[in-house]
Amino acid sequence: MSSTQKLHVLFACSEAEPLAKVGGLGDVAGALPAEIMRTAGEQVDIRLIIPFHAVIKQKNPPVGLIGSFPIKTKAGQLLCDLYVTDLDGVITYLLDSDGINHNSPVYYGDASLDGRKYAQFSVALLEAMRFIDWQINILHANDWHSALAVYALKDLYQADPFFIHTKAILTVHNLPYNGFGADAAMTDLGFTPCRDPDLPDWARLTPLPLGLAAADRIVTVSPGYAEEILTPDYGCGLDGFLRLHQEKLSGIVNGIDLEKWNPETDEYIGHPYSIDRLHSKQLNKLDLQRELGLEMNPELPLFTVVSRLDFQKGIGLIFDAIPDLAHQNWQLVILGTGAKELEERARDIAAAYPHKIISIQKYDDVLSHKLYASGDIFLMPSLYEPCGLSQMIAMRYGNIPVARATGGLKNTIIDFYASPENATGFLFAEKSAEGLKNALESALNVFKNKQIWYRLQRNAMSADFSWRRSALQYLQIYQELSQNSI
Ligand code: ADP
Ligand code: GLC
Repeated sequence: MSSTQKLHVLFACSEAEPLAKVGGLGDVAGALPAEIMRTAGEQVDIRLIIPFHAVIKQKNPPVGLIGSFPIKTKAGQLLCDLYVTDLDGVITYLLDSDGINHNSPVYYGDASLDGRKYAQFSVALLEAMRFIDWQINILHANDWHSALAVYALKDLYQADPFFIHTKAILTVHNLPYNGFGADAAMTDLGFTPCRDPDLPDWARLTPLPLGLAAADRIVTVSPGYAEEILTPDYGCGLDGFLRLHQEKLSGIVNGIDLEKWNPETDEYIGHPYSIDRLHSKQLNKLDLQRELGLEMNPELPLFTVVSRLDFQKGIGLIFDAIPDLAHQNWQLVILGTGAKELEERARDIAAAYPHKIISIQKYDDVLSHKLYASGDIFLMPSLYEPCGLSQMIAMRYGNIPVARATGGLKNTIIDFYASPENATGFLFAEKSAEGLKNALESALNVFKNKQIWYRLQRNAMSADFSWRRSALQYLQIYQELSQNSI
């Protein structure tokens, strides 16, 4: 690549913080493109595209309308509006149309409505590039919501000179969410079932597997998860396909936004602190205890959970394990919403132990900062975890994770028993309440030894979770792919 020839990269995603965030995917799209831009300097022009969700409209960010263009459907055509805004210096396009927006939530939670929204988004984002005449070298898609754009390059646009040099990378943040239910919308947009013999039959009109089949490179968000998805236990029926195509699969661990998540400058907490001023962390605990009506005692170990209440997160293990520890002194605060059954169990257990356990069922960014800052022990017993950001945020706040040894948790937490001197948390392997209970008991024991606990906190707080490392690895892939594309 010559110095005058910038690599054009389009980063496509369903959410991006601070415009729209449902989970870690929003954190990633809100931070990674900007970090890639800063790291690459003049070499890369990276832009972001997301749907113009209702929640973004409510925030009323400064946007400019670029114009309108059609995408073809069986019934005729669908008019799309393209807007532009700025996200941390990254040119960010917002796509709107009846199908993509409809004043809709980021995710409807209904397979066919989401299928239609994101199938149209995937085609429209490519047409948007033609509309502004910005030829892309690399399409960087994320999860099933934009995976169809990758497949479209091979299926709908195979012979289109505008996309002839476009290479595609697909980052998988969560394999089980494959976009099942999009087939009607796909047929309407002119997609044909994929004939790749390596794919299972159920996948021939399913967005994520089609993206995997069409992508030049597949990245998942940790090396640990990249290995796990090659096995039937974690592969969601795609492990066979992935094993056959291992050469294009790798894992890159996410980072966290070190400015947003900084205990020294955090505006949402009453008492900023650092490794050298950890006594102030206890003042945050006292604040939280007061705010939630818990006994105010800085010596009591405070367990915290900040999570979607989802099967994935192993939340049920917490409810099963915690009664066995009830004879010990601790407090537990759970912040999260999600599956009705888990919300109900969280309410029940909080009612059963009113002086120990509080369940707060909402999405609350400010409160999440307070929990990370006040907590001593962060619970993350995920059944599977592609990367996980919460545990990295917790560590940055000296809130020591107790987590299952899976996916990105394995790659980001150093286990106390594997390496006591360098440890940043506690890992357990068994997918059981017993496994979690034993790990929590270990953590409670170590917590009593102030010196060792301080070492854990110091290690955790000084770990490098910057986006820079991930950005460099993605850039390496962009460069490898672009060698043949321009
Ligand atoms: P996932 O994306 O699977 O939900 P991650 O650990 O990657 O898990 O990211 C979760 C992100 O969502 C973190 O930034 C976490 O702080 C945030 N989060 C989860 N639940 C809540 C909540 N109830 N209120 C505020 N933030 C939350
Ligand atoms: C998904 C995964 C989570 C990961 C996040 C960002 O939501 O569940 O493990 O951290 O994406 O990549």
